[in-house]
Amino acid sequence: MNISFTKTACPKEKPDSSVLGFGKYFTDHMFMMDYTEGEGWHDARIVPFENLSIHPASTVLHYGSEIFEGLKAYRRKDGKVQLFRPIENIRRMNLSAERLCLPQIPEDIALQALTEFVKTEQDWTPSAEGTSLYLRPFMFGNDETLGVHAVHNATYIIIASPVGSYYKEGINPVKIMIEADDVRAVRGGTGMAKCGGNYAASNRAGKRAEEKGYSQVLWLDGVERKYIEEVGAMNVMFKINGEIVTPALSGSILSGITRKSIIELLNSEGYKVSERLLSIDELSAALENGTLEEAWGCGTAAVVSPIGELSYKDKVYTVSNGKIGELTQHLYDTLTGIQWGKIEDKFNWTVEL
Ligand code: PLP
Ligand code: COI
Repeated sequence: MNISFTKTACPKEKPDSSVLGFGKYFTDHMFMMDYTEGEGWHDARIVPFENLSIHPASTVLHYGSEIFEGLKAYRRKDGKVQLFRPIENIRRMNLSAERLCLPQIPEDIALQALTEFVKTEQDWTPSAEGTSLYLRPFMFGNDETLGVHAVHNATYIIIASPVGSYYKEGINPVKIMIEADDVRAVRGGTGMAKCGGNYAASNRAGKRAEEKGYSQVLWLDGVERKYIEEVGAMNVMFKINGEIVTPALSGSILSGITRKSIIELLNSEGYKVSERLLSIDELSAALENGTLEEAWGCGTAAVVSPIGELSYKDKVYTVSNGKIGELTQHLYDTLTGIQWGKIEDKFNWTVEL
């Protein structure tokens, strides 16, 4: 695939790594390509980062035909830049596309687009401890008509943002509220897809949690409101009486790449991970009788994030004495060690640019 390049006439000043936060700054360019039914993907281009111009009737503005991904480019000690399991994001985006009737992108084209774009922007990959270049590929339906149907036109874009930690707490334990009223997704719905609508539906509970001093919501299943699913932007894992438990991929949970990597990592170290149903009753009992040893969230943006407090209805529980647990710390060190190229990647997860 030929990708044209238009260099920006006004390069921006790069922010100091101390002010990065998450998703506040954007690089000089973006990748774009368009899809037209009958023609396929066309006009692949890297262009200066700028506002989009779309028709006011564009499908995405009315019916939410939008999917996205999130992955990072990491600056290694030797100065080189590497990606972490990009093919997994590409495959998941195609699964999301299938669910939302958006066009899929052949894997080789998606990988070429991503790597050429990151090569163009690689100077934006920060080098301070814990920082990276967050990549946000996204696609939206772009028909210029108000009919409700599978789209005939779509746009695919990749933007990039130098980031620090997702939570203001950094690696320190976060407080999570288990949501008893709103639900995020149901089986048969779009929970397993990474689509914007899932996040829009989550915002009300997220706002309520934030007002009470919590970082994010932990969702229960949408049918029985009984089983633990995932956190707003991460999957969740627990160590209960020596057993490592994570909710099974039921169709309403995002199949996280960090989740998958941690399971593979733990298995390789001889730990057994149970992917199973975990009810709120079982979790509450473990919190009350002290058998919940550790809890953590995991995701690209949040990496491995220890959970120091969980609340459910009027009960508030402290986890691991509000400190980072031993296994959580080990997972954080190992995963970030591989991602930033500090330790050997015996899984072949990283892709050097
Ligand atoms: N669950 C949700 C709802 C997410 O938004 C994310 C973030 O991408 C994850 C889980 C973790 O997925 P991954 O590890 O692929 O980033
Ligand atoms: C990620 O971890 O990449 C995410 O997409 C989470 C997010 C919604 C900020």
